[in-house]
Amino acid sequence: GEIKEWEGPMAEVHSTIQSLDEEGKTRPTLLGSVPDMGEKAALEALSAAEKAFDRGQGVWPTLPVRERIKCLETFVEKMKAQREIVSTLLMWEICKTRADSYKEFDRTITYITDTIDAYKKLDRKSARFEKESGIHAHIRRSPIGVVLCLGPYNYPLNETFCLLIPAILIGNTTIFKPAKLGILLITPLLEAFKESFPPGVVNIIFGRGRSIASPIMSTGKIDVLALIGHSSSAVALQDQHPNKNKLRLALGLEAKNPAIILPDADLDIAVEECISGSLSYNGQRCTALKILYVHEDIVEEFNKRFARAVDRLTYGMPWEKDAFLTPLPEPSKPAYIRGLVDDALQHGAKILNEKGGKVSKNYCYPAVLYPVNKEMAVYHEEQFGPVVPIVSFKNISEPLDDIAESNYGQQVSIFGKDTVSIGPLVDILANLVCRINLNSACQRGPDVYPFTGRKNSAVATLSVFDALRTFSIRTFVAAKDN
Ligand code: G3H
Repeated sequence: GEIKEWEGPMAEVHSTIQSLDEEGKTRPTLLGSVPDMGEKAALEALSAAEKAFDRGQGVWPTLPVRERIKCLETFVEKMKAQREIVSTLLMWEICKTRADSYKEFDRTITYITDTIDAYKKLDRKSARFEKESGIHAHIRRSPIGVVLCLGPYNYPLNETFCLLIPAILIGNTTIFKPAKLGILLITPLLEAFKESFPPGVVNIIFGRGRSIASPIMSTGKIDVLALIGHSSSAVALQDQHPNKNKLRLALGLEAKNPAIILPDADLDIAVEECISGSLSYNGQRCTALKILYVHEDIVEEFNKRFARAVDRLTYGMPWEKDAFLTPLPEPSKPAYIRGLVDDALQHGAKILNEKGGKVSKNYCYPAVLYPVNKEMAVYHEEQFGPVVPIVSFKNISEPLDDIAESNYGQQVSIFGKDTVSIGPLVDILANLVCRINLNSACQRGPDVYPFTGRKNSAVATLSVFDALRTFSIRTFVAAKDN
């Protein structure tokens, strides 16, 4: 919306990468600052969003589709000009590698243009008249109202925009609160938002969730809660809404995606995919492989190769060439991961790789743990970090029962060659999770495929096509054939 000069308190944003001072002590690097908004400013943002929607009669939902698309296209062009600074801030703020930071930026641009194309198709398709029993129907997709968008720190640009872009394209108005880390990288885009959209369509609020998102929810004026992150945040926000049964949800939540490695698996492929699947961006991805079930006939050989491959991974600063493992941006994460490792060791697991489990400041070298069993916290918890638990199995019913009992149901990876035995396995897994990856790691992309999950892993589907449906209501005009 309209950018006002902020006169209130400011919050400093430091790099999560610590540098050393003259005495060799670590100190955070100040990168910049953002407004530390409170309840009053947050409620002003809500009023601006409500005004622009104006119960469906506002400037944005009544704007012809082609005009809304033009606004988005203008925004994309302006955003492209900020590629360098936004990608650099991704490296500094959340320690994503250089290659992955640029990838996140470029993927976001593609996501926006693909969503525009998908909307044009949807609009053309819905413009067709249908005729049934003498009734002509013109079916369309209409906006819902005001959407509160909150993205996660691991994809602070891409995943927030996966909520925001389809929501506004459909004609909703939005309030967008950046993630707890990865805040400053939104600031180079503020002018682009301001110059591309009418006031009130995109309202960006900075500050602590409790002091800015909670008062907004408490008004009961939010129609859609769109959040990718932890279910505890989603539940807390829903609970604040006085009429939460009427609140539409678009949620991408936790997962504990398993890989099942069958006795006839190609171990080169399985090791390579499980390395990237479990440890890219240090395992801080909801789609990461978070537990590996390996058949007992091959577990020894798999473990040897996997542990060796983990020790070959290079650690470095995000901007350094060849860095694969990087510091962890959440200050409490290394101690949490080390706690999981210690708990597993106490219950009989071993660290298989030489460098495994070393922790210092915000550095944490991945530990490969084996044999892992149900007594250990790492068997159940979504570690969201660099630790890889391995479980061996004799009968396929063992991993299947675990997946069926799990609170999560996003994806699974299967490694094996025998399509005759994999076929029925796929049929069962399709009833337990939402995506089955054959001989490849779990992932969200390509973004045209549905991104969702069963049980506590998701509510609604987010993808280029599905998100347009998630943020809209199907309405139609019916005319009698008389
Ligand atoms: O953190 C969850 C993300 O949706 C993971 O996305 O599989 O593209 O890394 P990705």
